[in-house]
Amino acid sequence: MKIAIGSDHGGFNLKGEVIKYLEQKSIEYKDFGTTSTDSCDYPDYALKVAEAVAEKEFEFGILICGTGIGISIAANKVPGIRAALCHDTFSAHATREHNNANILAMGERVIGPGLAIEIVETFLKAEFQGDRHQNRIDKIKAIEEKYNR
Ligand code: RB5
Repeated sequence: MKIAIGSDHGGFNLKGEVIKYLEQKSIEYKDFGTTSTDSCDYPDYALKVAEAVAEKEFEFGILICGTGIGISIAANKVPGIRAALCHDTFSAHATREHNNANILAMGERVIGPGLAIEIVETFLKAEFQGDRHQNRIDKIKAIEEKYNR
């Protein structure tokens, strides 16, 4: 499994904690930045990670900003991306099973590193259930196509 990870300055420290976890578990990853807590723009990192996931270079992406909101909104503009903002393990599990989410977004200013790591672990372990859920994802894709995104 290969993970693309990125954050803005607001998510930089939590990104470091998540990277430590990925390394401990020997999960392959690429860090798309940012590289410090200097102020930057979350859409830049959302785009890098979302494009890498949409192009299937990576199975999943992890995006972190202060709230997780801006970076997930931006990532969801890339066709084929289903970025889910999760601050609890139930949602992390459900979004893989039902939405086949391919990016997990979190907010460093919202949750602590302990919960964040549990959310990452849950997200990566859960599996898409297909069936009726695939039909709904096909309808999401139809919306993308309708607006020619
Ligand atoms: C940066 O200050 C902050 O706006 C950003 O990290 C994020 O929370 C936006 O949604």
